[in-house]
Amino acid sequence: MQFTRKHLLGLEELTTEEIQMILDTAVPFKEISERQIKKVPVLRGKTIVNLFFEPSTRTRTSFEFAEKRLSADTINISVAQSSVVKGETLVDTARNLEAMRIDMVVIRHSASGAPAFLSQRIDSQVINAGDGWHEHPTQGLLDMLTIRDRFGKLEGLKVVIVGDIMHSRVARSNIWGLKKMGAKVGVCGPPTLVPRQITALGVKIYPRIEDVLAEADVINVLRIQLERMQSNMIPSLQEYNNLYGITSRKLEKAGRDILILHPGPMNRGVEIDSDVADGKHQVILKQVTNGVAIRMAVLFLLAGEKPASAVEAASQHE
Ligand code: CP
Repeated sequence: MQFTRKHLLGLEELTTEEIQMILDTAVPFKEISERQIKKVPVLRGKTIVNLFFEPSTRTRTSFEFAEKRLSADTINISVAQSSVVKGETLVDTARNLEAMRIDMVVIRHSASGAPAFLSQRIDSQVINAGDGWHEHPTQGLLDMLTIRDRFGKLEGLKVVIVGDIMHSRVARSNIWGLKKMGAKVGVCGPPTLVPRQITALGVKIYPRIEDVLAEADVINVLRIQLERMQSNMIPSLQEYNNLYGITSRKLEKAGRDILILHPGPMNRGVEIDSDVADGKHQVILKQVTNGVAIRMAVLFLLAGEKPASAVEAASQHE
């Protein structure tokens, strides 16, 4: 079976088989990052532009590492230093980059739908690195790979996403991906930050964190996105921590071995306490490590390479 899509815009549109294919393709690519010379000649000759209209530490760096480790030529456009600040549109920016002969654009944008909009207007392949409140597909994929690494499966697991569900593209990509892979997905957070319509996606709403701690195999803790909130949607950060924050006291009281994920960046002391963020339940830096392999797999498959050749491709040396 071949991955036949031109773009990666979200997990909503992918089939279970396509998600499985990306996760399986990422596995042999993990080892490349552990070598002294972290490079294979798989995407030699491809030119990839990372176009980030919002700040990023993990995703931008991870895409850049993935591109370089597959031997692609890659450049980062810092929007603050580009002609966007002079009023150039997204499409004009991308078309000018295309005029220099590029193959793929990795885009992060504050507007939901910006990657899809761009994909309809340029010839290059488009990868969504996070668009508004909509989707962050490679984050959803790396979260699933990290959970699968621990449990050996996704099917049947209870995964609860805790926090600011309304503003979260990570929540939406996790929900689409995990549901397709057979996990039971729940959400928990203040009523002001959990849209009631989310149940239409087959998701259970947990009003109380205590019920999450009693049932979940995995908790994916989301960042409180103060920059996206229009008004006071939570009474105070301290109260949020008391009611929904993942603390070692709450985990100890639950007395269960729950896997804790966080996509980052973290607000320590708000949605997660430092002793949990650095403690035995969490796999937060494993998520970051897996992110490079997932992005390598996405680039490899979008470049038209066969999933069956991933092991051989990953075993090459520069
Ligand atoms: N998880 C994530 O998207 O982090 P960055 O905003 O640092 O890319």
